[in-house]
Amino acid sequence: MVLAPSKPNSEPKAVYLKDLASFSPKERPTFIHRVSKIERKVFPSSEAFDFNSELKKKNCNLTLALKDTDTGDGPQLVGYLVSVRMKRLALLHKICVVDQERGWGIGKCLIHSLRLQLEKGGCRSIQLWVDEDRKPARALYKSYGFQEIDRCIDYYGPGRTGLKMEFTIES
Ligand SMILES: CC(C)(COP(=O)(O)OP(=O)(O)OC[C@H]1O[C@@H](n2cnc3c(N)ncnc32)[C@H](O)[C@@H]1OP(=O)(O)O)[C@@H](O)C(=O)NCCC(=O)NCCS
Repeated sequence: MVLAPSKPNSEPKAVYLKDLASFSPKERPTFIHRVSKIERKVFPSSEAFDFNSELKKKNCNLTLALKDTDTGDGPQLVGYLVSVRMKRLALLHKICVVDQERGWGIGKCLIHSLRLQLEKGGCRSIQLWVDEDRKPARALYKSYGFQEIDRCIDYYGPGRTGLKMEFTIES
């Protein structure tokens, strides 16, 4: 999948999305290691996702945004999305795009790919919690069509309000 850039006058970037599950068991640890590295860099340790244990759960899915390189080190990881499926509801646990690749529409594409997967599987809604102060993430969710459905003071710790948002998948 080649993503159209959201920045004006820019060349399209050859970024494509793949679920971790589509890689062989031998290849997966390399990607989990790369995702964990980005996770530790971007999120405070209290919010860091434990990929090694969580991905063992059958309903947990990791989608990777990748870009081919000429270095011979395999594709470069530029973003990821973690979701958990619970019958007709899915939780969007984590979404992240590396700093230098933000603003190109990769975040939106990751969400759209999740939505298409869930739609096929009969899921009716995607829910998430986001820190009120994470403005880019809120802008992304709002732009995709998520609605705020709840608000919890100190959800992420003292003084850090959490917003619960939902996207309804139309049948
Ligand atoms: C949130 C995040 C995933 C967005 O990824 P991205 O690839 O830059 O987002 P996109 O380019 O797809 O942008 C999608 C929409 O969000 C808006 N948006 C994204 N970043 C924005 C910013 N910094 N300020 C204002 N709006 C922003 C875009 O304008 C776009 O809206 P449009 O399509 O209506 O023009 C990225 O900033 C990130 O990884 N942040 C750190 C991790 C994080 O906070 N994750 C969320 C909590 S788990």
